[in-house]
Amino acid sequence: MSDDTSRHIKASMEPDIQSIVDRIKTGKATRIVVLTGAGISTGAGIPDFRSPNTGLYDKLAPLRLPYPEAIFHVNYFSHTPEPFYAIARARHPGNLKPTVTHAFLALLAKKNLLHFVFTQNIDGLEQDAGVPPDKVLWTHGNWKSQHCYKCKSSYPDDLMNKAIRTGEVPYCLDTGCGGAVKPDVVFFGQSLSAEFDEKEKEVLEADLMLVMGTSLRVAPCSRLPRLVRRGIPRVLINNEKAGDLGNRDDDVCILGSCDDGVRQLADALGWGEDLNDLWEEAVATKKNDQTFEGGPSLDECIEKLASSIKDKMKVSDGHKRMLENHLNSKFGHIITKGHG
Ligand code: APR
Repeated sequence: MSDDTSRHIKASMEPDIQSIVDRIKTGKATRIVVLTGAGISTGAGIPDFRSPNTGLYDKLAPLRLPYPEAIFHVNYFSHTPEPFYAIARARHPGNLKPTVTHAFLALLAKKNLLHFVFTQNIDGLEQDAGVPPDKVLWTHGNWKSQHCYKCKSSYPDDLMNKAIRTGEVPYCLDTGCGGAVKPDVVFFGQSLSAEFDEKEKEVLEADLMLVMGTSLRVAPCSRLPRLVRRGIPRVLINNEKAGDLGNRDDDVCILGSCDDGVRQLADALGWGEDLNDLWEEAVATKKNDQTFEGGPSLDECIEKLASSIKDKMKVSDGHKRMLENHLNSKFGHIITKGHG
């Protein structure tokens, strides 16, 4: 058998979108588990983390952080919380609207096909789209509350909103503590809530798994697709391959934007109109939250912090002269001998 023929047979045997549509239409997929990441919210205006150039981590380069993720590491935050608050307003979901991908999750729930959603995002747009709160776990927390990173005491919402608006670091109200306050999002170096361990087993119940908008680079969420039972299809809807998706015979990879991918699925299922109606309603009902409106863009926030860091590093000429004179008076004789 020639290579072409075998390649053709393999390609035609590969499961495709139609196999997923048939599975849903014939009632073989009624417990759909979903894992989402930052890629489902880029359409709402929130950059993801790792896309080249547009991702947050590339954008942070001017800040010369020890490594990009440091901005979200609890150890770095404990001594240098400024970068986090410099970009907090630009990253806050505030007035952002859910995307058609968020609406697709709500449509699955409406059709009683959604078993559970694990989201790595902290923007809460799944709930804004209408996904029932008992069907979603914000594995990395969210912006809805905040505590001192050190003594864990809670911190008032209005003071936190002021800190996010101004970019000023909020500190613990217990003057004896002095720790910086952080939103209840899971930083690197912190463990996920006990609820994650409890909900993880929902993946074993899945009769279809959708993985959308994530690079699967961060544990423990990156491990969830591997828990799916053999013989249960896993569908990746993402700009690029991720994790081990595509390695199993019944995996389906829909490479491209999440919004296009869910529309393709919805249209093939005859849900196109339902999806549009639900999305329009979700966007219309998302309450208008002007709290963080009109702030500088993410790039402007980064630029401002980078230049203030540069200024702080700059030693004034007068300061330089004072140091040189001091060094000469102290060590001039050694330096001269050394040069001799
Ligand atoms: N459509 C489809 N895929 C997209 C889109 C889009 N519109 N936009 C981005 N992507 C893809 C990117 O190609 C990438 O594979 O989504 C993925 C996003 O990956 P990351 O930026 O790594 O985001 P995520 O996987 O959510 O990161 C996980 O890392 O920094 C931590 O806590 C942070 O929760 C985050 C975790």
